[in-house]
Amino acid sequence: MSAKKLFIQTLGCAMNVRDSEHIIAELTQKEDYSLTEDIKEADLILINTCSVREKPVHKLFSEVGGFEKVKKKGAKIGVCGCTASHLGEEIFRRAPYVDFVLGARNISKITQAVKTPKFVGVDLDYDESEFAFSDFRNSPYKSYINISIGCDKHCTYCIVPHTRGDEISIPFELIYNEAKKAVEKGAKEIFLLGQNVNNYGKRFRNAHKKMDFSDLLNALSEIENLRRIRFTSPHPLHMDDKFLQTFSQNEKICKSMHMPLQSGSSEILRAMKRGYSKEWYLDRALKLRELCENVSISTDIIVAFPGESEGDFEDTLDVLEKVRFEQIFSFKYSKRPLTKAATMPNQIPEEIASKRLTILQNRHAEILDEITKKQENQIFEVLFEELRANNAVAGRTDNNFLVQIQGSEEMLGAMKQVKITNAKRMVLYGEIV
Ligand code: 5AD
Ligand code: SF4
Repeated sequence: MSAKKLFIQTLGCAMNVRDSEHIIAELTQKEDYSLTEDIKEADLILINTCSVREKPVHKLFSEVGGFEKVKKKGAKIGVCGCTASHLGEEIFRRAPYVDFVLGARNISKITQAVKTPKFVGVDLDYDESEFAFSDFRNSPYKSYINISIGCDKHCTYCIVPHTRGDEISIPFELIYNEAKKAVEKGAKEIFLLGQNVNNYGKRFRNAHKKMDFSDLLNALSEIENLRRIRFTSPHPLHMDDKFLQTFSQNEKICKSMHMPLQSGSSEILRAMKRGYSKEWYLDRALKLRELCENVSISTDIIVAFPGESEGDFEDTLDVLEKVRFEQIFSFKYSKRPLTKAATMPNQIPEEIASKRLTILQNRHAEILDEITKKQENQIFEVLFEELRANNAVAGRTDNNFLVQIQGSEEMLGAMKQVKITNAKRMVLYGEIV
């Protein structure tokens, strides 16, 4: 009997990428599915959604409308992920041809969902922290591993606590065994995932030995043949000295830190309920630069949060000047249902938001050009993971620059020393030395 075909589209963050891997694993190993990239031949079409801003939510409805038009007769459509969590049954009202809705944190119910007409699984208290998912990974060289689920920070702009529920850490044994297995299968890099990774160990489902994120990093770094550890996202509030020291001293930890700033204004940070001030953020970022010479710091910034004055925005630009981020992800504030900020007065007009975003991005582009130029003639160790057009392969340096060289398939999975010959803003071109 030929297997049924599964088509899956993933929107949003790395957590969603890993959830999609779990869905694929469950359906290919426990049910009779195999993956296809051709939507027209699929028996099951899934979209794993994001709801962090309004745009990706609109995208969901235009995408599923498109699926309905091209799908073969009898094929099912399932909506998974964060928008599934927050809209639930409403998705059936807006798109009646959808067959089931499966929220983030309910992914282990996928085998049940595909067999139950109009299944809805959106329980925010559902605890999958000890569920043994079947095994599937997109990349043999880099393995995503969840270390916690959910988030209970309740930043006032953020919908995630309403889509992924409260934070629970995954037991150390499970993480360790998963990492070990991945490395035995050839992974060189593990990528630890959670909404708030450096809060690891605050709450487990069952009794657990005391362990924080620094302890976890050190314990995982003992795995033989594991070369690199990355993680996302840490929270600036929990960047204590122990963590910064572990980060800079442990050689297996990649020297690339994501430090979501959100705003440079202490007043706006307070309104966002971020738990830190501009001064704390600068202190941590500059301490990190001091401890770790070659670190790359990336960040997330929201402009035009309700009440943001010109002066507040200047504070954000000031942090940009002082930290000189290697990478920024910047967004206009987007009003999200269920969040406190949605009901705040002084929502900022769209024209001002757009203007501020442009100023921020233009200034960062200038800084990035200066940073990029400095990479020429430097030598980096690169883990090659991706085939590119015109006989090229690409991979990342320890501090997360994208490097491309001439080469073919046999380079994939290799770690090589590369000298940068031509540094461009998005890609550093080089050759093996
Ligand atoms: N509006 C704009 N950006 C947001 N983010 C989260 N919620 C919102 C929102 N309501 C951004 C934050 C976060 C990133 C994943 O998305 O910067 O770090
Ligand atoms: Fe990821 Fe947040 Fe989007 Fe959910 S809402 S997919 S947690 S970015």
